[in-house]
Amino acid sequence: MRCYLHAFLLCMVFTFCSLLYVFSQLASTLEDRDDWNLKEQEITDRSSHDTRRVLRKRPGLAGLRDREEGLDRCKSLSVSYWNPYWRLPADVCGVNCFLESPLRRRSGSAVKEHRDERSHLAVVACGPRLEETLTMLKSAVLFSKKPLHFYIFAEDNLHNSFRSALHSWPRTVQTKFKFTIYPITFPKENANEWKKLFKPCASQRLFLPLILKGVDSLLYVDTDIIFLQPVEDIWALLSQFNSSHLAAMAPEHEEPRIGWYNRFARHPYYGKTGINSGVMLINMTRLREKFFKNDMTAVALRWEEILMPLLQKYKLNITWGDQDLLNIIFHHNPESLYVFPCQWNYRPDHCIYGSNCQQAEQEGVFILHGNRGVYHDDKQPAFRAVYEAIQKYPFGEDMETSLLLPLEASLQMTKHTYCGRASHLFTKKLKQSIFSAQQHITQRRQSGFHFNTTP
Ligand SMILES: *[C@@H]1O[C@H](CO)[C@@H](O)[C@H](O)[C@H]1NC(C)=O
Ligand SMILES: *[C@@H]1O[C@H](CO)[C@@H](O)[C@H](O)[C@H]1NC(C)=O
Ligand SMILES: *[C@@H]1O[C@H](CO)[C@@H](O)[C@H](O)[C@H]1NC(C)=O
Repeated sequence: MRCYLHAFLLCMVFTFCSLLYVFSQLASTLEDRDDWNLKEQEITDRSSHDTRRVLRKRPGLAGLRDREEGLDRCKSLSVSYWNPYWRLPADVCGVNCFLESPLRRRSGSAVKEHRDERSHLAVVACGPRLEETLTMLKSAVLFSKKPLHFYIFAEDNLHNSFRSALHSWPRTVQTKFKFTIYPITFPKENANEWKKLFKPCASQRLFLPLILKGVDSLLYVDTDIIFLQPVEDIWALLSQFNSSHLAAMAPEHEEPRIGWYNRFARHPYYGKTGINSGVMLINMTRLREKFFKNDMTAVALRWEEILMPLLQKYKLNITWGDQDLLNIIFHHNPESLYVFPCQWNYRPDHCIYGSNCQQAEQEGVFILHGNRGVYHDDKQPAFRAVYEAIQKYPFGEDMETSLLLPLEASLQMTKHTYCGRASHLFTKKLKQSIFSAQQHITQRRQSGFHFNTTP
């Protein structure tokens, strides 16, 4: 009798296994067919000068995928990394994403196979930074010719304002970017300590690689950044990384005599004058994989392991919060940092006592960083003039007559300041960006492609 039972059980197990096998085979043939379709598309894409043309013509499943991507029902909803999906309320993106994940993964791979040409831009906005952040994002879309994805980390009470402001931009502008809004979250155990560090929310940026686990690379910028050049130009620096680089930043100072770290810091810092974290280009895949040398243990630590012990050790000695922690980390791991020149992160320090950013002298300012609130007070009127010109420019108007000319006029009024005297550097690159963006718009109009979303 027991013998029969055993035989029966064995049979059941065998049947079950065969069924599993059949299913997995079926699934993989389906997937293969999909992959194959994609490969075929890729070949057509490569032979065509305009990928959009091909994408438009794509029928059937592929077209559906495009629409999926275009709608992206999760794009403006909030996800919290620290809450697992199943603990989130049903109307929050997490649950939908989770349920749709098989579909999503496939559309994700479709995008990847086409080479993701988007620049991924992250910002953290707290307190009264809404308008400033929107102006930064506006400067990003004005000059970029490639699609963008914004990751906006903001206090909960700002979420609706961000959403409605971005949705109020003209449709032609909206087709250039997608956005996702996230709440500010810190690891539960030490949330309060992290929040107190420097400014509320500022240290959020340290956790972006752990929160945006699915994102390969990211450009993080402070809210007081103005792009004077297409975002894709700084994004392109990622391809100049050697095999040990995982992040890129600009020096904190050009001139050691007025440098802060070399004169006052009570902790290790990178290089001669430290680094500034207002513009950070990060290959997060590498950062998540890296083991960081440090002065706390003999073993190298992963990103998620190093932050808390570092804060504990140095909390009494740091002044600029998380930027100091980054300086300590890259002091011990200098081979991981790609240092880009000061015109990618141009601050009042570069002109306040006379111009000291040589690369900007030659090529103009690429990214303006109005730190210490200079967009909103009268200490550096040249910085404020750029901010206000971008903020006031009405979308759709001619950029030369409605942005460049008024800006040049107001910069003329700032010549009594050192930065005002260097302000021809503020418009040098901007002029080219405006010219080339206008040209791009005209071309798109002529070829009738203005309503296309690129993947
Ligand atoms: C980031 O690094 C990973 C691992 O080295 C690499 O596969 C990926 O292509 C890099 N991303 C970019 C945008 O260069
Ligand atoms: C903090 O600063 C003090 C005073 O400069 C110094 O003696 C101490 O070693 C510093 N602490 C660390 C952890 O570097
Ligand atoms: C990458 O460049 C850095 C300097 O930026 C250098 O220290 C490091 O050794 C280089 N890595 C490799 C693998 O060449």
